[in-house]
Amino acid sequence: METKFWQLDRDCLDTDKINEAAAYIRRGEVVAFPTETVYGLGANACDENAVKKIFTAKGRPSDNPLIVHVATIEQAEMVAEVNDVARKLMETFWPGPLSIVLPKKPGIAVNVTAGQPTVAVRMPNHPVALALIKAAGVPIAAPSANLSGKPSPTTGQHVYNDLCGKIPCILGAEDAQVGVESTVIQVCQKPCVLLRPGAITKEQLAVFCGEIVLPGKAQIDVPQAPGMKYTHYAPNGKVYLVDTVQELKDAYGYWQKQGKKIAVLLPNQWRETGENLKEIQNSQLFFLGDACDLSQVARHIFKGLRYCDEIDAEIVFVASFPETGIGMAVMNRLAKAAQKEGWAYGRE
Ligand code: TXA
Ligand code: MG
Repeated sequence: METKFWQLDRDCLDTDKINEAAAYIRRGEVVAFPTETVYGLGANACDENAVKKIFTAKGRPSDNPLIVHVATIEQAEMVAEVNDVARKLMETFWPGPLSIVLPKKPGIAVNVTAGQPTVAVRMPNHPVALALIKAAGVPIAAPSANLSGKPSPTTGQHVYNDLCGKIPCILGAEDAQVGVESTVIQVCQKPCVLLRPGAITKEQLAVFCGEIVLPGKAQIDVPQAPGMKYTHYAPNGKVYLVDTVQELKDAYGYWQKQGKKIAVLLPNQWRETGENLKEIQNSQLFFLGDACDLSQVARHIFKGLRYCDEIDAEIVFVASFPETGIGMAVMNRLAKAAQKEGWAYGRE
């Protein structure tokens, strides 16, 4: 299949291209598009056959439900039963990186929700995404636009690398600003459940939700937030988290002696330790940003994990970050990349 790759300017939308992409959606095809979190792979959420194409293109397990993207709160009300807490969250955080799980209304295709009675809805904060949803005139179901199991795409090029030949159309724009997927919160019953940490933090949500709990085992087995059940975000190499420069040096020395190809992802601060890192080749190093500004680290984390595959790393070392604010989302993704058994969000 030929894949069209159109680069758009978020500040000066090419409405012809948006309309062409919207026509693909209405015809039951899939389209990749930018959001502020990561790029999404969208299809008409009311068309079961179209949604099936998302699962096929990504190689995604079908028990893994999708987020429905809307352009207005009114459209969210057509998709889900919106309660008072959800409405406050929408008014406060939308458009933005928050997906809200609610009882679903009829009309949404059964494979969007993997047969569950609930649906996740989100209004993305990106002019291209919003224009596409409006032009299509339908809610758009969209997971991240990566091959299943690979790090989520934060550039149009990432999407192209993963899905060229498998989908008809990619809308590209600037690199994703947030860099990790949306926070997912279930607000159907009390207490609310934080299914996936993201840029909107538990503390921000607690103002409206009251007590918020982390998912129990039952929610992991029924994959409401499938990152918990499936290996996610992983580069091909084995990922190890390291806490200190000394730990990195020791582990690096060990694997280098075994002749392994190594990649090392670090905050900028570790560069300043200069002498200590001099045995590590520049070509193996990827700097994630300022450790004191974890939003920079979030923005670059998936690019960093993809870099590991670009240099064919067999062993990957990544620095640990504090689990405060968006750091919780960063560490959640890194723990999954490192396939830590039994790790939910914190290091309990
Ligand atoms: O930022 C994002 O959320 C991106 C962009 C494209 O919007 N999308 C994304 O989708 O990350 P995906 O499919 O990679 O992750 C969807 C998450 C999963 O953890 C899934 O289990 C959860 O949302 N989810 C979807 N529907 C759900 C439901 N009915 N109940 C519980 N969790 C649900
Ligand atoms: Mg995903």
